[in-house]
Order: sequence, then structure tokens, then C-alpha cells
Amino acid sequence: MKHCFFVVGCLSAIASLPATALRIASSLQWIEHTPQPYAIKNFYKGSSTATLVSGGVANLGSDRSIDLAANAETQGLKQYASHKNIRLIYIICEASYRLVANKAAGISTLADLKGKRIGTMQGTSAGYFINKLLGTAGLQDSDYRTVSGNVCMKTPCGANTFPQMLASKQIDGFGIWEPAPELGARAIGADNAIFFQNYTIYREVYSLYTTQEKLADPAMRKDIVAFVKALNQTLDVFTNNPDASVYEFVASKVGMDPEVVKAVWPEHKWSGRWGPDLLPFITEEDKYLAKTDRRQAMSSADLEKFLDTEVLDEL
Ligand SMILES: *[C@@H]1O[C@H](CO)[C@@H](O)[C@H](O)[C@H]1NC(C)=O
Ligand SMILES: *[C@@H]1O[C@H](CO)[C@@H](O)[C@H](O)[C@H]1NC(C)=O
Repeated sequence: MKHCFFVVGCLSAIASLPATALRIASSLQWIEHTPQPYAIKNFYKGSSTATLVSGGVANLGSDRSIDLAANAETQGLKQYASHKNIRLIYIICEASYRLVANKAAGISTLADLKGKRIGTMQGTSAGYFINKLLGTAGLQDSDYRTVSGNVCMKTPCGANTFPQMLASKQIDGFGIWEPAPELGARAIGADNAIFFQNYTIYREVYSLYTTQEKLADPAMRKDIVAFVKALNQTLDVFTNNPDASVYEFVASKVGMDPEVVKAVWPEHKWSGRWGPDLLPFITEEDKYLAKTDRRQAMSSADLEKFLDTEVLDEL
């Protein structure tokens, strides 16, 4: 507005003034989402406010008032299959899921899970994690029984939550995002618990998404870049300086005890940028999702367009 030499320039400057708030759809229940409220509270300097609303990447396809969304790569791929304008622009968190099992059920290796009852949530990143992890021990889906249940964020864990089901021997083990595995191990006693995880085989790639249309709108794009910049500053704090106030902030956002947040912190990597291994990783995952969703698997070339580093390169 400082240099309005031409009327047209002034008008466009004025027109872009009443900026609308950036709206971000995200599940608000999990640790992985917490860099977003932290970034908004401490670092975001867009043209207006940024607001988190309950939702996810599915909202980008159906609701134009949503500008950004956060979800695991699993939900991102499911949506991209039918909405090719969705773009993954940033990795908020990579979470190395854990399968926790009861040694008393005769489990000391992954192969021992043959014939066992394993808690997980089908149709989510956790279901894929179980399939991949047990696959490394040569086990097929038909070699074990999956049992559905709920997560638990804080003790006491109620009926039908995985930690409680493990303690009452309704299941022999379970695998899902934190802190349920941590609370499951505590429920049966650390000495009775055995953990399995394999970061290379599977980690949740909890990402930030937008659409090509949002990125093509210059004012919107500026705010998106500002939000990613604020996330980048947050990830620096979460990675290099997670002091008591950070654990308390995260705990308060998702209803956990700060001590448990601290205990499961090492299972989370606050990544930001991705490496060349992400494309083969999601190509492999999409083959599995294509089967469960009864559709064609996407080609590597198609998936390459899904991964968009433009915003990161603009920071
Ligand atoms: C992860 O799985 C890969 C492939 O099966 C295997 O080579 C690697 O040793 C595993 N890593 C761990 C830590 O078990
Ligand atoms: C992102 O944060 C890192 C610190 O973790 C910093 O070195 C880097 O310059 C930041 N990138 C941008 C583009 O702001």
C-alpha cells in the first residue's frame, strides 16, 4: 500500500486486504498434530489468523473453505487416488509405530505372533503397519487374527481400549500410534512387555496437504508459505529443545500426562523435508491400499506429482 502509483495497483492492494483466516483441517486428538497449534501460537505471521478445525485431508476435496489439512500418508494416498489436485507439501512428523506384545503369551520374536490375536485399526496407517511388520517375519494376514479396539491417551484406560484389552488377555499384542503401546506395556508391566518396530519398513508419515488451486492463488500461497515457515520453526524447537513447557503444551492439547509425552517423544521424528526414499515408500503402500480399497494402484509417476517441494523451496 506504500507505493500506489497506479489506480489498478491500489485496487488490487485494497482487494487483498480483508484477508480471510487460513483454515486447517486436522485430527485434534493425536500427538502428531501438535506442531500446528504450537506454530500458530508462537510463530505464525500470515496476513490473518490461522485456525485449526477438526477434520483431515478428505475435507480438501469437499470443502473449499479448507486451505490445508494434516493426516497420515495413508489417508493422503486414499484421497489422492480420486482427487489428483491434492499435494503433500510438508512432513510434520514421522512416527515409528510400535507393536507391543505380552511375553507371557509365548511371544519373543515377531514370528511368534503366528496364530495370535493382534489389536489394530483396519483401514488406517496402523492396519498397514501390522501387515508390513508381520510380513517381515513371513506372516500373511491369514496367519493371525486382527481385533479392533480403541486407543487410550491417559490412564485409567477404559474397556475396549487396546491397553486394557492386552491387560485382560483379550489380545496378545497390538500395534498403533502412541501413546497406546506405551500405556499397554505399562498395563502388563514393563518386564512382561516386548516391543517390535521397524522404521524402514513402516513409519507414519504425518503430512501437511493442500491443493493445486490453493497454491495457484498468490495471497493464499503466501499464507501457506508463512504457515510452513512457522511449522519449520516449531520443528526446530520440538527436535532440539523439547523442554518441560513443550511436553506440557503437547500433553494439554491431546489430554495426556506430560511424563508419558516425554516417554514416547523418541518415537517421533519432526522431519519437515523428505528424502528420495519417500516415493518408493508410498508407491509400495499404495499397492496395499489399492487392494483394500478395490481400485487400481497409482503409478510412481502419478505419485511423484503428489509430492510437491515447491513450498519448502520457497521458505
Ligand atoms: C527392518 O526390516 C528390514 C527388512 O525386512 C530388515 O532388513 C531390517 O533388519 C529390519 N530392521 C530391524 C531393526 O529389525
Ligand atoms: C528450517 O529450520 C531449520 C532449523 O531446524 C533451519 O536451519 C532452516 O534454515 C529452516 N528453513 C527455512 C527455510 O526457514
